[in-house]
Amino acid sequence: MARLERFGHGGDLDTAVELYGYAKEKLLDFSANIYPYGPPKAIVERLRELLAEPGLRQLTHYPDPDVRELRRMIANHHQVEEDQVLVGNGGAELIDLVVGVLSPGQVGVLEPAFVEYGESARKRDIPVQAVVSRWEDGFVPDWAEVERLLERCDLVFVGVPNNPTGHLVPQEMLKLWAERAVEEKTWLVLDEAFIDFVANGEERSLIGLLDRYPTTIVLRSLTKFYALPGLRLGYMVAQPEVIQQIKRQQVPWSVNALAQAAGCVALSAEVYEPYVEEVHRWLRETKQELLTQLASFPALEVFPGQANYLLVRSCQDGVTSRFLQEELGRRGVLIRDCGMYTGLDERYFRIAVKKREENAVLIESVKEVLVNEG
Ligand SMILES: Cc1ncc(COP(=O)(O)O)c(C=O)c1O
Repeated sequence: MARLERFGHGGDLDTAVELYGYAKEKLLDFSANIYPYGPPKAIVERLRELLAEPGLRQLTHYPDPDVRELRRMIANHHQVEEDQVLVGNGGAELIDLVVGVLSPGQVGVLEPAFVEYGESARKRDIPVQAVVSRWEDGFVPDWAEVERLLERCDLVFVGVPNNPTGHLVPQEMLKLWAERAVEEKTWLVLDEAFIDFVANGEERSLIGLLDRYPTTIVLRSLTKFYALPGLRLGYMVAQPEVIQQIKRQQVPWSVNALAQAAGCVALSAEVYEPYVEEVHRWLRETKQELLTQLASFPALEVFPGQANYLLVRSCQDGVTSRFLQEELGRRGVLIRDCGMYTGLDERYFRIAVKKREENAVLIESVKEVLVNEG
C-alpha cells in the first residue's frame, strides 16, 4: 500500500523517501507535531558531553533500571511523590503498558483520537467502544455518552489536548469524568502528550489533583515539546500501587541512559522555564498566521485547536486528503492524511505548525496544487 502512514503514524521519513524519492534532509515534514527548532541546546550539549567521556560510560554500562534521578525531578516538578512516577520509552510504551497490565475487558476511546489507544486494545482482542465527537460540535463530546462509556468500559482514553483535533476538554469537565471514573471503578487515562504546548497547560492538567482521583492515570511525552522523538521519553503519574503494578511488567532498562540524561536537563530550573517561554512565543507568532493563511483558501476549513497542529477539512470535490498528500509529497512536503481516524474521512488532514519560513513553503505548495486543481 503506497501511503505515508503505512506504519500507522505521521513523521515517517523513511517511508517518505521511498515514496517520493527525496533525501531526508530535503523533506519538509508537517505530518509529525514536533517543535521545529530542535531540542534545548543544553540537552544537545549534555549528550555530546556524555558521549565524549573517556570509556563511553553511557554506552558501555546499563542505564539506571529505576530511573531514579529523572523520577526525582519529575516528582519535584509536579509536586507528587517519587513512587507515583513511572518513566517509559516514549508515551507510546506507556499507552501499551496500561492496557497490557490493567487488562480491561473493554476499552473506551473518545474519537477521533491517537490510533494507539484503540490499537493497544485490538491487538489483544479487547473490544473497543467509542464516543465520536464532530467538527460541527467543535469536537466537544456528548457528556451523557461519555458517562455511558465510563460505565460500560474498564479503561477510557482521553487526549488532553486531543490529537488530531487539538480539542482540549476543560479541566472542570475532566474533574467530573474523573469523579465518575472513581464511582465506576474505571481507569481514566488522560494522555497529556501535547499539554506543554497549551498556554498555562500545567494549570489545566489533573496531575496535581490525582490524590482525589485514584483511578485516573496521566501520561506525558517529552518527545514533541522537547523535539526528541528519536530518543524516546515519556512518563506516567498515578497512584503508587498502579505504578508498581505496571512497572513490574515493564521491560528492564526500557529507558536508555541518554534519554534519562536528556529528561533531567529538560526539567532542570535553568532550562525548563526559558524553554517553555521560547516554545510558547514561537507558537503565538506562527499558529494564528498559518491558520489564517490556510483558511483563506476557499477549498479549506481549519479547526482552531489548542495544540501545535491544525486539523484541516477540504470542502472541494476531488480535493481529498489523499490527493493533497500525494501532490504535496511529490513537492517534498509531508502532511498527515486523517482519513483513517474513526469519525473523520477522506476530507481531513493535519498540519503541524513549523517555522514561519517553512509554513510559507507549505502555503505556496498548497496554492500550487489547488490552482492546478481549480
Ligand atoms: C496523542 C499522542 N500520545 C502519545 C504519543 C506517543 O508519543 P511518544 O511515544 O513519542 O512519547 C503520540 C505520538 O504521536 C501522540 O500523538
